Amino acid sequence: MDNTQLLNLLNTLTIEEKIGQLIQLSGDFFNAGAMAVGPMEKLGITQEIVQLTGSVLNVLGAEKVTTIQRDYMEKSRHKIPLLFMADIVYGYKTVFPIPLALGSSWNPELVKWCNRLTAKEACAAGAHVTFAPMVDVVRDARWGRSMESTGEDTYLNSVFAKAMVEGFQGDFTPGESLASCVKHYAAYGAPEGGRDYNTVDMSERRLREEYLPPYKAAVDAGCELVMTSFNTVDEIPATANQWLMDEVLRQEWGFDGVLITDYAAISELIAHGVAENEKHAARLAMEASVDIDMKTSCYANQLKPLLEDGAISQQKLDEAVLRVLRLKNKLGLFEDPFRGASIAKEQELKESYESKSLSRKAATESLVLLQNSKNTLPLTKATKVALIGPYANSQELNGLWAVYGDKSQVITVKKAFEEIMPSDCFKYTQGCALLESLDGLGDFGFFASEANALNTDEAREAEKNKAIELAKWADVVIFAMGEHTLQSGEAGSRTDLTLPKIQTDFMNEVLPWVKRSVLLLFNGRPLVLTDIKDRVDAILECWFPGTEGGHAIVDLVMGHVNPSGRLTMSFPYTVGQVPVYYNGFNTGRPPKSSTHSLRFTSRYLDSPNEPLYPFGFGLSYHVAEYTNLKLSHANMRAGQEIEATIEVHNTSDVEGEEVVQLYIRDLVGSVVRPIKELRGFQKIHLLPGETKQISFKITEELLKFHTKSMRYEAEPGYFEVYIGNSSDSDICARFRLE
Ligand code: GLC
Repeated sequence: MDNTQLLNLLNTLTIEEKIGQLIQLSGDFFNAGAMAVGPMEKLGITQEIVQLTGSVLNVLGAEKVTTIQRDYMEKSRHKIPLLFMADIVYGYKTVFPIPLALGSSWNPELVKWCNRLTAKEACAAGAHVTFAPMVDVVRDARWGRSMESTGEDTYLNSVFAKAMVEGFQGDFTPGESLASCVKHYAAYGAPEGGRDYNTVDMSERRLREEYLPPYKAAVDAGCELVMTSFNTVDEIPATANQWLMDEVLRQEWGFDGVLITDYAAISELIAHGVAENEKHAARLAMEASVDIDMKTSCYANQLKPLLEDGAISQQKLDEAVLRVLRLKNKLGLFEDPFRGASIAKEQELKESYESKSLSRKAATESLVLLQNSKNTLPLTKATKVALIGPYANSQELNGLWAVYGDKSQVITVKKAFEEIMPSDCFKYTQGCALLESLDGLGDFGFFASEANALNTDEAREAEKNKAIELAKWADVVIFAMGEHTLQSGEAGSRTDLTLPKIQTDFMNEVLPWVKRSVLLLFNGRPLVLTDIKDRVDAILECWFPGTEGGHAIVDLVMGHVNPSGRLTMSFPYTVGQVPVYYNGFNTGRPPKSSTHSLRFTSRYLDSPNEPLYPFGFGLSYHVAEYTNLKLSHANMRAGQEIEATIEVHNTSDVEGEEVVQLYIRDLVGSVVRPIKELRGFQKIHLLPGETKQISFKITEELLKFHTKSMRYEAEPGYFEVYIGNSSDSDICARFRLE
């Protein structure tokens, strides 16, 4: 349809039908045929409202979607198809590594392709919209949803936001493109205390400088939807924050797509204390130009009374409905309400070789080698390997938001080793349970946590003794340890970021018998490894690596692939440092250059300021030397650009990938400026012994920030340029902006 036809359609709708388009209900309301009385009563809505609802939350499967859509359209007077929206964040049936891992690949093109394949799989299952990418900047590892983000850096998250939106949406071809919903707008990743859903409070300058850009990158990339976040911004919940939603998002950025709330966020305005009741909450959300109410009865029951009272205008309602109709139109739903849903296609793609091989490649680029003492890795097939730990033979490698992931397809580490190791060189035992108990983790709907066995002293003792025997036999012991899936993700905030005690106690009992050790880590956020790192030789950060995790890990451990992952979130030395991140301000009393005595500088008495592993850090089997940093000019005039070049030399006899990172520091600003900021990167391939000259263009755009006057501009003065293999690289050159 064209815009006129959409307007004509809008004008044929009754008030109730218009309001229906702004309601999203979960699948239990649409059990084909069955009257979903229970959910309706619980939510306080009528069957009529269910029949008028405009979109469905988290129901997928070609047959199920087709049945619901067909039933709905048969009963519908207006014949406006349902929108099917779901959390398809990093894969559908074939699961890719969690976004914090994908970010560690520093390969946006690869991630874009992962999302293209995900979109194809999900379209066959009837999906129209994905609630992704999640681009929240996060600097606090206590926050469980760190796993969903690409990390702590504004620039890098913005690069991935663009790539992920483009990957999901493609050219909007039906059957292979999903409408993308960027989330969680805004600054959901900065809750006080790292506690999910908690208060977020910061200056407008910090919000605009450090937290908003990734959402804007997604909007500029054409994402069709934006999701409001649960948290407050400037002490106003985002879902009712007119400045954030209307002035910034719609007027300043020109976003005219669909604004949907997070789960039940409108009714939560009452708990926040800014709404007296559902009617007040509905008015606040509508005034903030929120279009779709996810899973509450606020819009369903209150918009009509608000219209009748004149508290909201017919125009405001029509604008919201028109945005929803435009989205349905862009997806081609009026021409084909079943848009790509295909049982045959779904079956064909369910175990698609292309998706699996890409998942394996993405995982090999996402793992991060944190330590490799005595060059313990890579191993050879002649090495006698004992694989021990709760993650050694576990298929729980998908992470918490793999809502539709087919766990049965997950390749375990044990299976991957058994595929290539001679049987007399490989042994396995579980060793210990993942956690002492699953109590307190709650549940997470679709995720059924495996209760680990070993629940008697005898079983535990027997396993420990077996592990010690294997350790005595082996040349190398590989420990597969980590946090439980339910210990990260939504509502997975934690204050102790060390490995579970049951695992470290077990390791301490076995390590005395170990000749060489490798620690494989499975986790959804940075952990505190300070106490364990000196007790093992190598540490490989595996995150939750997805369907092909086992294969990818063995590819790296055996040297078939040279690790290239680099951290996108700092690993704290201790949880007491958190939030810890690379691009902080210098303060007036920096420990390393203050005129004050050391005590009276900005430092801790009981911990270094620096993280254990910094942003951008990661090891490889090759060693690259960075030399000859040069700038084309010592001065840059407005509108000019400077070229920075550096030589990167592979000093080893193995080829590999190197992430060359460009950081810039503005030495003096009208407001304080970060001690350095990522402003570019290039992932390059180096042959053994090869040297490459890498260059970056430094433009005035890269020097801009929100100045004292809040204008976004560059200011004259001196800048330092750093190029290296992580954020703590000190290879530096200086130029002046005139
Ligand atoms: C959840 C999450 C959000 C998700 C939504 C729908 O609470 O906060 O990321 O997209 O609800 O499942």
